[in-house]
Amino acid sequence: MCGREDRIAELQPEVSQALADYRLPETLGFGVEMAPVMYRSEYYDGEWKSGDLLPFADVSVNPASTALQFGQQCFEGMKAYQVESDHPMLFRPNLNFRRFQKSARRLCMPEVPSALFAEALSSIANAMQPHMPGGPGQSLYLRPTLFGLDPQFAVKSSERFAFLVLASPSDAYYADPIRVMVERDDCRAAVGGTGAEKVGGNYGASLLATERCIQKGFHQSLWLDPKRRCNIEELSAMNFMAVVDGALRTPELSGSILDGVTRDSLLEIARHSGIDAKDTDIPIDEILQAIESGRCSEAFACGTGAIVCPISAIGESNGKEYPLPEVNQMASTLRRALLDIQECRAPDPFDWVIDSQNSQVLAEYLEK
Ligand SMILES: Cc1ncc(COP(=O)(O)O)c(C=O)c1O
Repeated sequence: MCGREDRIAELQPEVSQALADYRLPETLGFGVEMAPVMYRSEYYDGEWKSGDLLPFADVSVNPASTALQFGQQCFEGMKAYQVESDHPMLFRPNLNFRRFQKSARRLCMPEVPSALFAEALSSIANAMQPHMPGGPGQSLYLRPTLFGLDPQFAVKSSERFAFLVLASPSDAYYADPIRVMVERDDCRAAVGGTGAEKVGGNYGASLLATERCIQKGFHQSLWLDPKRRCNIEELSAMNFMAVVDGALRTPELSGSILDGVTRDSLLEIARHSGIDAKDTDIPIDEILQAIESGRCSEAFACGTGAIVCPISAIGESNGKEYPLPEVNQMASTLRRALLDIQECRAPDPFDWVIDSQNSQVLAEYLEK
């Protein structure tokens, strides 16, 4: 693969123009500011075709496509950072790649080869290199997306697919501590369904509960296991962690929650620094009691978008609230340790950060 200068020289004039015209706004928010470029490739006749960097624009999708009719779609959320480095660095993209493949298989879609995934990430991150936000917690959020293109009303898989990588210069998802409401009626995903994959339907199924909890003054729903509504699962776009008797606890991977990259990274960082950190069943009633008795000192959410986000209270729809006594003790220590690695301020003992420049090197890393 070619280097950055060759690649930029090869860009189509419309892409170069879109990049030249782009100005990073002063305030970003999360996932609302779209990068001026995107990557697109298509699958047909049984193979992935080589892709292109294009100006960001609407795409034409057949209204009868399997993506729109049956939700044959999956995506990923990952970040490139350029704070202490000269070019965009990706954080554990191999885990996002693996999860993307798993989601694609679950929705009966062809896996995207590592070379194509790497080429897409590398070309968009390199093109955005002059426009990378570098403030605290800021990054280029990357959204690989895969969906079925064939128009048909019979419930069967497409044979043509589109793979896009979109990008959004972003702040962290939440700036302040959040209040979460236990969701005791709906569930977002069942074991054997698609909860352990990152597919659009999971998020669609969470929207109504989110609206209800916002109306009651909360930010996010806290989902329980779909069968018994007893154990904590996760939030709609983040995993859940709590500090109980000084130890870090997070729900184990039940088959209906997402295997978060941030969750895994925080568990490793915590263990590396000698903290007792474990994934286990976390019954909601026990956590609420532990908050009342003072044994649970802290709870927080974690995910690529939010990084680490303290939870200031857990509430019920009947108005009962359980405020957390310490809002940001272990959460801030872990957040700092994680961001120091992501933003290349601290050594990376786990080999988690990889330069996005060379797509061949990146493709090899994706296979790790
Ligand atoms: C449902 C759900 N759980 C957890 C997470 C956190 O995962 P990650 O840390 O890989 O972003 C996300 C975000 O992607 C999510 O959408």
